[in-house]
Amino acid sequence: MPFRNKRIAVLMGGISAEREVSLGTGAGVLAALQSRDYDVVGVDWAPGTSLPRLLEDAGAQVVWNALHGTPGEDGSVQGLCVCLGLPCTGSGVLASALAMDKVASKRIFESHGVPTPAWRLLAATDGADALADVPLPLVVKPSNEGSSVGVSIVEDRAALADAIALARRFHGPVLVEEYIAGTEVFVGILDDAVLGSVEVRPATKFYDYEAKYKRTDTTYLLPPELPAPVLAQVEASALEAYRALGCTGHARPDVRVDPQGRGFVLEVNTLPGMTATSLLPKIAKQAGIDYATLCERILASAR
Ligand SMILES: Nc1ncnc2c1ncn2[C@@H]1O[C@H](COP(=O)(O)OP(=O)(O)O)[C@@H](O)[C@H]1O
Ligand SMILES: [Mg+2]
Repeated sequence: MPFRNKRIAVLMGGISAEREVSLGTGAGVLAALQSRDYDVVGVDWAPGTSLPRLLEDAGAQVVWNALHGTPGEDGSVQGLCVCLGLPCTGSGVLASALAMDKVASKRIFESHGVPTPAWRLLAATDGADALADVPLPLVVKPSNEGSSVGVSIVEDRAALADAIALARRFHGPVLVEEYIAGTEVFVGILDDAVLGSVEVRPATKFYDYEAKYKRTDTTYLLPPELPAPVLAQVEASALEAYRALGCTGHARPDVRVDPQGRGFVLEVNTLPGMTATSLLPKIAKQAGIDYATLCERILASAR
């Protein structure tokens, strides 16, 4: 295995809205790599600390990036690692930045023929009345967040203004998307190939923050309960989306599948949740790859 004799820093926490989730990922990865006898240290990038100094003090020679959200998943930390000469897990600067930005991602998906829900950008001055001609339900979301933070599914025009105001509180411009009824599939990609997928059926209205991290009544179907040709299209579109953005190493695209069996790529998560029970580890387990091995293979893909 590469990096056997290197000091590995599991970089976690961070200063994004997903700090808490990242601490969970980091703790899991740290324990897994320790169990395989790597020279590994946890680095908690907490608000008010200097990331370059933390990495230097830890003696980091490789970074296992367990951060989620902005900054961390968006190319910023990837750029810092390039400047510091440290190999880092996950996609590089440009792919990370493109994948974190839903508007940039959708433009690239469209230019590559990757199906994605119809959408439009809201101008900074646009309010609910700017969407008077758009059919409901629709989805309002900030361009640069994760973990469903700031995302609303609007079924009633009276709720539109609040949904827009909520989305504006987060990073990036606000976009409005066609609501895709049906089901949701997350595709695991490792070493640039599809590992498998999981269908998620939340008990809540959509796969929101609560359903992702707090609730225990979300149903996970491995493999998805979809006809083989539908699943094949979903996985092919997910891989196309990953390639179109220029992702490398691993990722977890998010695909909505409508009742006619058509898959639409919502986004590509370049630093997906990696606690032992997160979606990518679930998919890996189904493919015969245990959690510690997955953490090790991701480490081996650091560039
Ligand atoms: N166009 C859509 N149609 C149906 N559901 C959606 C749509 N967009 C988002 N959602 C729901 O909201 C969740 C979060 O949206 P997503 O675009 O993946 O942002 P995030 O980066 O926060 O995960 C999705 O997992 C899905 O359940
Ligand atoms: Mg998502």
